[in-house]
Amino acid sequence: MSAAAKKIYLFANWKMYLNYAESRSLARALKKTAHDLPQRAGMAVFPSALAMVGVKEELSGSPVLLGAQNTYWVDRGGYTGEVSSAMYKAVGVRYALVGHSERRTIFHENNHDVRQKIEALLAVGITPVVCIGETKPERQDGSAEEVVEAQLRAAFTDLAWPEGRELIIAYEPVWAVNTGEPCAPEEAGRMCSLLKKNVAGLLGDIPAVFLYGGSVRPENVGDFIRQTDISGVLVGGASAKLETWSGIMAAAVK
Ligand code: 13P
Repeated sequence: MSAAAKKIYLFANWKMYLNYAESRSLARALKKTAHDLPQRAGMAVFPSALAMVGVKEELSGSPVLLGAQNTYWVDRGGYTGEVSSAMYKAVGVRYALVGHSERRTIFHENNHDVRQKIEALLAVGITPVVCIGETKPERQDGSAEEVVEAQLRAAFTDLAWPEGRELIIAYEPVWAVNTGEPCAPEEAGRMCSLLKKNVAGLLGDIPAVFLYGGSVRPENVGDFIRQTDISGVLVGGASAKLETWSGIMAAAVK
């Protein structure tokens, strides 16, 4: 499919960049610009848990969807500091990141946690956006492919994927996240093609969508989206500022 025809996913991971008022303010501005996007471009924002409901209010009536940055797999109980998938579902969240590299490296999330989260999200009807990626030493010692394949196996082996549920995987090489050093688009495309083959082996004939994340900017987003097996981007820093995010949106749909 040509880049001009395929559905494009523009996912904005605001991380911990914006406080409550700033999150609402950016959402208010995005509501206006979202209507200028062609229908084939789907936008979702991933605010902090704190700002989720305020952002939802600002986006009401707009096509922009809501995503959570992290979830916990038990519905409710004594889990100080956590917010469950079921709780996010109850306020209209459509997507949730799982296994983001910052969760894996800073908060020590492992493949087992990732799997638990995926299962809980599917159970409540939220689409997991499963983040996969190798570290710099892993790339340098030639084990990048092995690492991402192991992450995929842990996430999806023997998992019954619910019929009709989107399957979204974000390839985010850890060394490209928040470094200003993006992966070369052709290499990101090659890694996504590899992930695609592996996912087909694990889950069968389910159409999977692959996003690239890591230092995406207005000037490089088009090169990623042009790759055959990349359908969109998961953007961190540049998505938390109206100017750069507007630039990314405009360049992505050109
Ligand atoms: P940056 O766009 O800031 O590199 O972050 C990417 C990312 O982690 C998106 O989830």
